[in-house]
Amino acid sequence: MALKFDKLDFAVICALALAVVAYLKLDVLKELFAADDSALAVQSSSRDIVEVLRENKKDYLVVYASQTGTGEDYAKKFAKELAAKYSLNVMCVDVENYDFDNLNSLPKDVIVSFFVSTYGEGDLPDGGLEFEEWLQVLEEGDLGNVRYTMFGLGNSTYEFYNGAAEKTQKLLKQAGARMLGTFGKADDGAGTTDEDYMAWKDDILEELKDALALHEKEVSFISSYEYKVLPQDLMGSISLGEPNSQYLPGKTLAKKENMQLGPFDATHPYVAPITSTKELFKKKDRNCIHVEFDLSGSNLKYSTGDHLGVWPSNPDEKVEKFLTTFGLDPTTIFDLKPKDITIKPPFPVPTTIGAAVRYYLEISGPVSRQVIGSLLQYVTEEQLKERLQALSKNKEKYAKEITSKCMDLADALLYLSSGKKWTQVPWEFLIETVPHMQPRYYSISSSSSSDKQTVHITAVVENYPNPEVSSLGPVTGVTTNLLRHIHLTRTKEDIAASSLPVHYNLAGPRDLYQNYKLPVHVRRSTFRLPSNPSTPVIMVGPGTGVAPFRGFIRERISFLKNQENVKLGKHLLFYGCRDDADFLYHDEWPVYAKELGSSFELMVAYSRIPNKKKVYVQDHLLERENEVLELINKGAFIYVCGDAKGMSQDVHRTLIDILRRGKNISEEESSEILKQFKTTGKYQEDVW
Ligand SMILES: Cc1cc2nc3c(=O)[nH]c(=O)nc-3n(C[C@H](O)[C@H](O)[C@H](O)COP(=O)(O)OP(=O)(O)OC[C@H]3O[C@@H](n4cnc5c(N)ncnc54)[C@H](O)[C@@H]3O)c2cc1C
Ligand SMILES: NC(=O)c1ccc[n+]([C@@H]2O[C@H](COP(=O)([O-])OP(=O)(O)OC[C@H]3O[C@@H](n4cnc5c(N)ncnc54)[C@H](OP(=O)(O)O)[C@@H]3O)[C@@H](O)[C@H]2O)c1
Ligand SMILES: Cc1cc2nc3c(=O)[nH]c(=O)nc-3n(C[C@H](O)[C@H](O)[C@H](O)COP(=O)(O)O)c2cc1C
Ligand SMILES: *[C@@H]1O[C@H](CO)[C@@H](O)[C@H](O)[C@H]1NC(C)=O
Ligand SMILES: *[C@@H]1O[C@H](CO)[C@@H](O)[C@H](O)[C@H]1NC(C)=O
Repeated sequence: MALKFDKLDFAVICALALAVVAYLKLDVLKELFAADDSALAVQSSSRDIVEVLRENKKDYLVVYASQTGTGEDYAKKFAKELAAKYSLNVMCVDVENYDFDNLNSLPKDVIVSFFVSTYGEGDLPDGGLEFEEWLQVLEEGDLGNVRYTMFGLGNSTYEFYNGAAEKTQKLLKQAGARMLGTFGKADDGAGTTDEDYMAWKDDILEELKDALALHEKEVSFISSYEYKVLPQDLMGSISLGEPNSQYLPGKTLAKKENMQLGPFDATHPYVAPITSTKELFKKKDRNCIHVEFDLSGSNLKYSTGDHLGVWPSNPDEKVEKFLTTFGLDPTTIFDLKPKDITIKPPFPVPTTIGAAVRYYLEISGPVSRQVIGSLLQYVTEEQLKERLQALSKNKEKYAKEITSKCMDLADALLYLSSGKKWTQVPWEFLIETVPHMQPRYYSISSSSSSDKQTVHITAVVENYPNPEVSSLGPVTGVTTNLLRHIHLTRTKEDIAASSLPVHYNLAGPRDLYQNYKLPVHVRRSTFRLPSNPSTPVIMVGPGTGVAPFRGFIRERISFLKNQENVKLGKHLLFYGCRDDADFLYHDEWPVYAKELGSSFELMVAYSRIPNKKKVYVQDHLLERENEVLELINKGAFIYVCGDAKGMSQDVHRTLIDILRRGKNISEEESSEILKQFKTTGKYQEDVW
């Protein structure tokens, strides 16, 4: 999703490669012309889903509405399995790219499988807006010929759990479409997305076998692309990990003077200079990095409360481990040509194996049980085969042996084969099986009024000992350790002495990130201060959850400076940390308090002071119950930011209690009031 590569990019790369035609062998040249043709074919083709399906002689349709790629990954996995097992000719598409007006004229035996992720108040991802509008105006019988399956992706920590899939399902049903099999729901909150998918899929495949009279064949991987190794003399013009084709040599963004050219968005990040970094914790074992990005060279704008997407790369250690596990040569240059026009290359190609592994693949996260199962086709040794089979069929066993040990793909495979390399696994298989690198989002901790050209983020570094197998080394986050490496290098700290668990190539592809730069983009959020400054504000943000509230407070200070005779409403901030050593922005709050006077108050809950009782933000909310109630009665806006699993739910329950007691109403009634607040924007959450 992040590296969605559009037809234009593809054409651009082709054109670019043509520029170095003098060096090319004839067969390569032919290849490039062919690519150009297929790119044109996409452009001339229709947005009508049924027309494209018919044109391409497809006999099954998979449609996904996904924001960060999870739903997309499962949709593609599903499509590939149908193709591999039943020789179906599957078309798998992003809902954003097609019109569905003629859906009811689908050929009779074509079934549609929807994969829908939920955001906001049970909304579809941004790309699903048009689709949703179309659904809303359907009338009974409009989809009388359509048969479909539904798989929703959500997180039960949110109020509108799988709300978008529910809504889609309801509207399809109202229009007369008929659902096959069970309504699948994946719950990220319980950490069971993968298991939920597997269970749903097993059921659906049985359904489909009946409905379409399918015959299963031996599963073997069929690539969606024509894979081709290109000669080394192309090295000067191919992608070496650039975020998109505009950053390739000779293209507009590769030239410094063009950096302001945009628009920059989720597919076109801006390579932003990092102008300041700071360690915010005063402890040895945990780190939290404050990072400032300079946007002045771009036309990027942000609003206080938005998110910043940061595009990471993998560390040397993990890249090395992955390459050796699969016996891959990082210098090999390859190209991927989609076998049909409904598929796009997953990242900028041609590129090298080394660049793809470092910049485009998510090689270090947890491994799904299905991936282990799909590797069976490459195992001949009986004992290993049985081991893989047993694991891929038994989720308890899998959780115990693999998941609980926080293994990544290379770890898991080497463990299963007792250290033997997996060189027989084709690279083409890995390209389509390993998830693709996604940007990570951070709540912006600066204010667009006081910090117009710089964006600040506050990132807690993910680095903890492996919970079960210490020899596997610490479990580390890709982006946050990269930010820490940048910080340590910038401030000339002794890297060897800092026990940094992993190390990165900070210079980036073709030195694009030299002198501390990273690709970033701004994602709009709805997390906004009330427009009337006299409205009271209650903010709850323990840990890194305080990030956007630093932005809010800076925003109010900047506002006061430009305004005379305004009376600011009460701004009450509930913050929580373990002790003074992880007290974020410790030195800044007194300065802010001075500027804002009595309208600002910070309450700090300490949870790990030796010999003291654990105090959480919700304990302080209760302590200030009467004042909180009074502010709510005066129309206060309530904001909660940070941990979605425990904290935000505990705080929600506490607020229900406060309202219930204060207004002498039932729990249902107070919960209804908060629900209402959510709808009207008076209760806003930024939780992850
Ligand atoms: C809207 C939003 C706002 C956010 N705001 C902030 C913010 O202000 N500040 C902030 O610090 N974060 C924020 N986050 C979280 C942030 O986006 C990242 O998820 C976080 O920083 C971790 O990213 P990473 O790349 O370092 O870790 P990743 O590489 O994404 O890893 C994620 C976690 O998995 C663990 N892990 C790695 N490998 C494995 C494995 N093989 N098996 C099991 N576990 C593994 C890692 O240790 C880590 O804990 C926000 C998220 C969202 C969605
Ligand atoms: N994978 C892990 O091991 C791990 C550990 C911590 C956090 N996280 C995640 O990391 C993210 C941010 O962490 P962070 O470092 O900013 O936070 P943090 O430092 O872990 O927590 C900040 C404060 O919140 C407290 N807290 C914990 N549970 C709470 C609850 N249910 N209600 C209210 N307060 C609570 C903590 O107390 P305590 O002293 O009780 O922790 C601490 O005082 C969160 O999304 C969280 O889910 C992961
Ligand atoms: C900002 C944000 C808001 C979310 N809101 C909801 C929600 O309201 N209901 C829900 O069930 N899941 C919600 N989720 C969880 C996602 O739907 C879930 O993580 C899903 O797997 C993401 O799929 P995608 O990668 O295809 O976009 C939310 C996730 C984020 C990051
Ligand atoms: C969903 O639930 C998980 C718990 O597994 C939590 O860590 C995460 O922050 C929640 N939100 C998202 C978007 O994954
Ligand atoms: C609270 O409400 C109940 C019934 O709704 C009523 O009997 C009771 O007197 C009320 N208490 C107060 C303090 O108002």
